[in-house]
Amino acid sequence: VQRGRVLPRHVRAPGPLRAWLHRTRTGRPHVTWKYAATLDGRIAATDGTSRWISGPESRAIVHADRARLDAIVVGTGTVLADDPWLTARLPDGSLAPHQPLRVVVGTRDLPTRARVLDDAAPTLVLRTHDVDEVLDALTAHPDVLLEGGPRLAGAFLAARRIDRIQAYIAPVLLGDGLSAVRDAGVHTIAEAIRFRRERVETVGADVLITLVPDREQRSG
Ligand SMILES: NC(=O)c1ccc[n+]([C@@H]2O[C@H](COP(=O)([O-])OP(=O)(O)OC[C@H]3O[C@@H](n4cnc5c(N)ncnc54)[C@H](OP(=O)(O)O)[C@@H]3O)[C@@H](O)[C@H]2O)c1
Repeated sequence: VQRGRVLPRHVRAPGPLRAWLHRTRTGRPHVTWKYAATLDGRIAATDGTSRWISGPESRAIVHADRARLDAIVVGTGTVLADDPWLTARLPDGSLAPHQPLRVVVGTRDLPTRARVLDDAAPTLVLRTHDVDEVLDALTAHPDVLLEGGPRLAGAFLAARRIDRIQAYIAPVLLGDGLSAVRDAGVHTIAEAIRFRRERVETVGADVLITLVPDREQRSG
């Protein structure tokens, strides 16, 4: 495969091929940041609870995606707040045959009984805040799903290491709470990190917006 664009812009490569092409070109895994937000851009209520923002159809797609991907990355904040399993489950609730590597990034200790440390899938704990160190540790895992909270998402955005966004927007309002991103290094509108819409689809009551970085974004 030659460096540069291999497929015409309008042709979407399927997941594994897209990730493989990306790694061939950049040497890094391909990162899809997935989050579920309310209409007002909140990913958790003020008390930190965030379960069931999106509907069952959206959650089923996320589980199917996890079952195809190589690694799921979250920050310690998400593990400490939600105690997620981060496994891929089939519609009947059983574990999918393929489980992605679970990756927890951050310096705080995790409770020994954290679900992410169970034996349903392998788990890697990376005690760092360096985004590229995380990606270097995952070169054998080209297709990565970032499911972290706003701090880790902000760090990946600030480092320009988000290659695709899947935003599940639910017809729900919270009025307050955690917004999807914190500390992305943007201080003025000229620094806004712009994305280009790839696809918009309805998923049950939600809307799934898939975006890729806008390489031609305005510089100011
Ligand atoms: N709706 C959704 O899609 C969704 C998804 C995920 C999470 N959430 C919600 O998000 C909330 C948790 O938010 P959060 O921001 O704490 O979660 P997070 O981004 O997953 O974790 C934040 C932690 O990650 C670590 N970290 C690693 N690299 C970092 C870097 N470069 N910069 C900053 N921190 C880094 C830090 O932990 P150390 O201090 O340990 O170093 C930091 O406190 C919960 O309420 C959860 O329910 C919602």
